[in-house]
Amino acid sequence: MKLLVTGGAGYIGSVVAAQLVEAGHQVTVLDDLSTGHADAVPPGARFVEGSITDALGVLPGMDGVLHFAAKSLVGESVEKPGLYWAHNLGGTLALLDAMRTAGVGRIVFSSTAATYGEPERSPVLETDPTRPTNPYGASKLAVDTALTTFAGLYGLAAVSLRYFNVGGAYTAKDGQVYRERHAVETHLIPNVLAVALGGRDALSVFGTDYPTPDGTCVRDYIHVADLARAHLLAMEACSPGEHKIYNLGNGTGFSVQEVLSVCREVTGHEIPAVVRERRPGDPAVLVASSEKIQSELGWKPEHPSVREVVADAWSVLPR
Ligand code: UFG
Repeated sequence: MKLLVTGGAGYIGSVVAAQLVEAGHQVTVLDDLSTGHADAVPPGARFVEGSITDALGVLPGMDGVLHFAAKSLVGESVEKPGLYWAHNLGGTLALLDAMRTAGVGRIVFSSTAATYGEPERSPVLETDPTRPTNPYGASKLAVDTALTTFAGLYGLAAVSLRYFNVGGAYTAKDGQVYRERHAVETHLIPNVLAVALGGRDALSVFGTDYPTPDGTCVRDYIHVADLARAHLLAMEACSPGEHKIYNLGNGTGFSVQEVLSVCREVTGHEIPAVVRERRPGDPAVLVASSEKIQSELGWKPEHPSVREVVADAWSVLPR
């Protein structure tokens, strides 16, 4: 297929673009490089530097779009909600409009567990209430809602994938390495590994008074290679007039303390940690039920262990 990957110079988008190229698709990456890296675009893909609001220039002739380009910092979204509504919702509506004009009818959208907010139960099912607790999650949920409407109205074929916590790195068959390298790093595993590398003095553990077995937050960590593979399945399976929503996680929760222990084992470093206040808006437990995507699309994680997620992230870190 001829496919457009928006945000394909970012962490997850670049892994998906690499897997699409490996699977024989013709891939164009559209990325404004506001947070992405030009050298993360796979060698076999065409790269167009630009905004999703200018997608009409590259859409004609495409069979589908995988849409990753977005603002994705929860804390920033609380401080600057307008930015998140403009980029994540406004930008996506412009992209959907351009897709209709260009006659492109398939989209796989990068949604998030943040659409659920503070879930009432674990694991979370796709049918559970969506009550986002920050503008980032709200803007992604608004796009999910728009996709449902557009599928019904215009026959769009759409899939939203709701990611839980993504980690690890991907090494393509040509040896090219794709890894997480955010200028502003908020995520747990890269922050722990930065301490192991000596780039930071200690890990801040945000809260030890949650209602969890060890008091720290519990998350469901999914390997980026497994997550990416779900996008290829979704693009092949999506059908006109339908909007499907799937959670993506492994169904097992690990606490911040447990992740820290795994990182200590994998790296062989002591990794000092200091307890800090809770980070505003962090739910205590976020674990996915991925049964729906397993049964409907045949997706199965190949790297379900958090140890492998950490080991793969660690092994490719430049030192
Ligand atoms: N944490 C720390 N110290 C750090 C970083 C994180 O203790 O330096 C803790 C957090 O408080 C949280 C856990 O580690 O309890 C995981 O935090 P991450 O930032 O790695 O991931 P989140 O669960 O906050 O975020 C993920 C996605 C978001 C999405 C969110 C949904 O990365 O895009 O889930 O709640 F919005």
